[in-house]
This record gives sequence, C-alpha cells and structure tokens, in this order.
Amino acid sequence: MELIDTHCHLTFDELAADVEAVLARSEEAGVTGWITVGTDTQQSRKAIELANEFENMYAAVGIHPHDAKDATAETMVELKELAQNEKVVAIGETGLDFHYNYSPHQDQKRVFAAQLKVAEEFNLPVIVHCREAFDETMEILEQSGSGVKRVVFHCFSGSAQQAKIVLDKGFHISFTGVVTFKNAEKTRDAVKIVPLDSLMLETDCPYMSPEPMRKQKINEPALMIHTAAFLAELKGMDLADFAEVVTATSKAFFSLPS
Ligand code: NI
Repeated sequence: MELIDTHCHLTFDELAADVEAVLARSEEAGVTGWITVGTDTQQSRKAIELANEFENMYAAVGIHPHDAKDATAETMVELKELAQNEKVVAIGETGLDFHYNYSPHQDQKRVFAAQLKVAEEFNLPVIVHCREAFDETMEILEQSGSGVKRVVFHCFSGSAQQAKIVLDKGFHISFTGVVTFKNAEKTRDAVKIVPLDSLMLETDCPYMSPEPMRKQKINEPALMIHTAAFLAELKGMDLADFAEVVTATSKAFFSLPS
C-alpha cells in the first residue's frame, strides 16, 4: 500500500530531531510519501532542505495566517525565491484564521492574496488554512486567486454545505484525524459528499493524533493509517482500494511522479 501524507510539519521540533525514525515507522505503516509544509520563510527553507534529503518527500512553502503580521515585501521576495526550488510542490500553508487572530485580519488577507499571486506566477497549487473565516476565504480566492488552478482546503472541518461550495469551485478537500473524533459528526457528513478524485489525506502532525491513538501527544505520519482506515470504512471501501484512488488524486493534484 502507498499513501501520501499531504500535509505534515516534519521540520517542527517535535519531529525534526528523530525524523529518520519517524519516516521508518511511516513507511512500515504504508504511508510512503510526505509533503512537509512551511509556516514562515524559515520553516519553508527548512522544509526544502529536509525534502532534499529524502526521495519521496516534497515541500510546500508559505506564510501561515498566524505569522502574517510579520510578512513584509522582502518576505514575499524570499518566498518567490523558495518557490522555485525543484522539490517545492505547493504554496502554503496560507489562508485566514479568525479563531486565534494571532495576526490582524487585514494582514492575514493581504498576505493570503499575495501568496495566491505567487502560486499563479509559478503555476503551483495552494494549501489553504481556513478557520472561522469561510466566506472571507472564498472571497479572496475569487478576487486574487482566479488564476490559481489547484486549491485544497486542508484540515477540513466544515459542514457538508461548505464542502459543496468548495467542490463546486473545483477545489479539493483534505481531511486530518479530526474526522475520527467523537464530536466530528458534521465533518463526517461532509466526507460523504466529497468524491474520491477531490479527497486527500493528511496528518497535520505533530498535532491532532487520530483515534484510537488520540492520547499520543505527538502525532506523526504513521498514524495517518488510522484516518485512512476510518475514511475507507465511511466510504464503504476496502482500505487498499481507497488508498489507491486517494493516492492517485494526491499525485495528480501536486504533480508528483507516479
Ligand atoms: Ni498545518
């Protein structure tokens, strides 16, 4: 079996120190490819460095909405330079987070729009982080992202109604272990309407271990197998068949070698 963790943070301290063991456990579980995602220019640079060490690892470069307040014109120049590395397969994570509000909304919107322009310039897909800002996120994607061909809503925890709006735009939806949580009934309803050619999997590790491993404080790619098995069952499919289709979807979306 071959699964791809399309959104992990392998450069974060919780995982970086022991990354070879993390990847060995991942491969043993059937999670054989990884996209490690940057949250600022420093983490994005680290993501590229790490991806260059492992054949099946790729990098996404971007500024997280939490860090938007620190992004200057020079930051965007640096991001453009990073985006041209051959291991970079996406811009992200970027978007809006009106739950934590670590950056003012105006900064979040400005830096999100600027990153959509970078994605358009280099014809890269965009990994969108959207928390309690659904309408505003869709609005910026329409205004500034009209030239972006591939968009994924990562760690989707919205409703079926919101999923339909996202799918109608031709965007993809990615699920984390959150979908396995007891109180995630709304997200499970959304899963039911997402076709497998628009559905991807991720851990968003080191955060949010899936059930039945939720007590494991540091999530890692190996645990994505639990999310995959859970979603396969929800879709009424064998895990192997489900994995094959979802991996094909991920490879097509991120233009990974097949
Ligand atoms: Ni993330």
